[in-house]
Amino acid sequence: MRMLTLLEMTQHPRKPVMVFPRIFLSEWEQLVLAPVANFASPQPAGWFYRDIWFEPLIEKYNERVYPFVKKRRAYFGKILIIMNKKVCNNNNNNRCASCNKIDNIENPHAKLTRYEHKNDKKPHIIDLRSDVLTQQSPEMKEFMMAAEVGDDVFQEDPTTIALEHKVADMLQKEAALFVLSGTMGNLLCVMTHCDKRGSEILLGNLSHIHLWEQGNISQLGGVHSHLLENLPDGTFHLDELKDSVRADNIHLPSTRLVCIENTHNQLGGKVLPIPWLDELGNCCRELGIPIHVDAARLMNAAVVLDVPPARLVKDCTSVCLCLSKGLGAPVGSVIAGPRDFIERARRLRKALGGGVRQPGMLAAAGIYGLDHVPSLLWKDHAHAKAIAKAVSDLGSPLIKADVEGVQTNILLLECDMKVVLPDKLCSRLMKVTPEEESALGERIVVKSFAMAKTSVRFVLYFNVTFEDVQRVIRKLVYVIEEYEGKV
Ligand SMILES: Cc1ncc(COP(=O)(O)O)c(C=O)c1O
Repeated sequence: MRMLTLLEMTQHPRKPVMVFPRIFLSEWEQLVLAPVANFASPQPAGWFYRDIWFEPLIEKYNERVYPFVKKRRAYFGKILIIMNKKVCNNNNNNRCASCNKIDNIENPHAKLTRYEHKNDKKPHIIDLRSDVLTQQSPEMKEFMMAAEVGDDVFQEDPTTIALEHKVADMLQKEAALFVLSGTMGNLLCVMTHCDKRGSEILLGNLSHIHLWEQGNISQLGGVHSHLLENLPDGTFHLDELKDSVRADNIHLPSTRLVCIENTHNQLGGKVLPIPWLDELGNCCRELGIPIHVDAARLMNAAVVLDVPPARLVKDCTSVCLCLSKGLGAPVGSVIAGPRDFIERARRLRKALGGGVRQPGMLAAAGIYGLDHVPSLLWKDHAHAKAIAKAVSDLGSPLIKADVEGVQTNILLLECDMKVVLPDKLCSRLMKVTPEEESALGERIVVKSFAMAKTSVRFVLYFNVTFEDVQRVIRKLVYVIEEYEGKV
């Protein structure tokens, strides 16, 4: 046994198990633990924080634990950690009564260690919060290691240049530019289009640029937003768009850009229909307004429609494609468009601190992802659909899935707010109750994301296997039935 601070604990490579009886926590310690453990219910069976499994010993408390508790309390503000390794030692030839394992580490608190032994099976953690969690495959890492590099601010990084040519060719645009993130790519494109003060853009009210990028286009670019109501398929009414274009009037901002998103994240990975894209293209051509597409997951859309990605961005002047989502690269996006546009974006990228020196290894990951991953994306789509179907088959009025609405790798579960709050559902999916463990025969932890007032998002990606999907389904079925009072 040894004392670790909270910081050490979260960084500990051996993933210790922390055991403590909560009834003995001082108020101060509870305050410290609450944000770390993020527990909501009064007696969680356990919870994760950065892959460390925490368990309160509340039910297992007995007088043999007490001296240990007292000792711990003496270390005000610190927490006793029992290392995984030091799990078993009792008075019975050092053999644990519940699991029969032998351990020769001296520990006077036999009950405590037995409890820990009983629970030393690691739970299966399936993290579906986002496809940005995709882990690089050994092959991708090997490819990255072999990348030739140079200084990219001087435009001398051969691998980055190769990636930019590849994306420009693939999207049939004149030029492309590697950027550090999708957020940076969208910002650069909007600021490059809106390089005059008093510019306004038209974009969907549920777009990522509007909801999830900190209002950076106004914060950093001084760009005004005019929102169009997103329809459930990710589109908006073109009449509304036409009506929103500003007249040439000294009192008004000037409409400089229309932004779309394909696939549409907030609406559950919806693929924008090609006929609508064509209509939008004609409409904006007539209006003389360029289109930017936040194409973070464009390859997913291309796979679903079975068309080359260039077909989906034909009428868009600029495109921002993410490498670090389903394509599996650790970092990066690429923007593409006309040559002079990309050169102006390059200047801005430097101003925003995005001019990196030898990004070749990151660019190599993008090249590898573009070459190898798109043909596998259908699997993520099938997995999302399978989970949706299992939930929908339950017919629960409390938690619903729209199977037909699942087109790509994103699934939204709709919650009846009167009974199920999205963040509570996420917390419940992270927890394993003893009853659930015995019903399912294993401990399954599913991480998800409370996306909106009524919805929870699950995103499928390369590392989530068929077996993981089966586990997610079993967990969801159990939890939904629990909400329904059936278990
Ligand atoms: C549709 C969409 N656009 C842009 C982004 C931003 O990408 P990044 O996280 O690389 O900044 C995301 C991220 O999830 C996204 O879903």
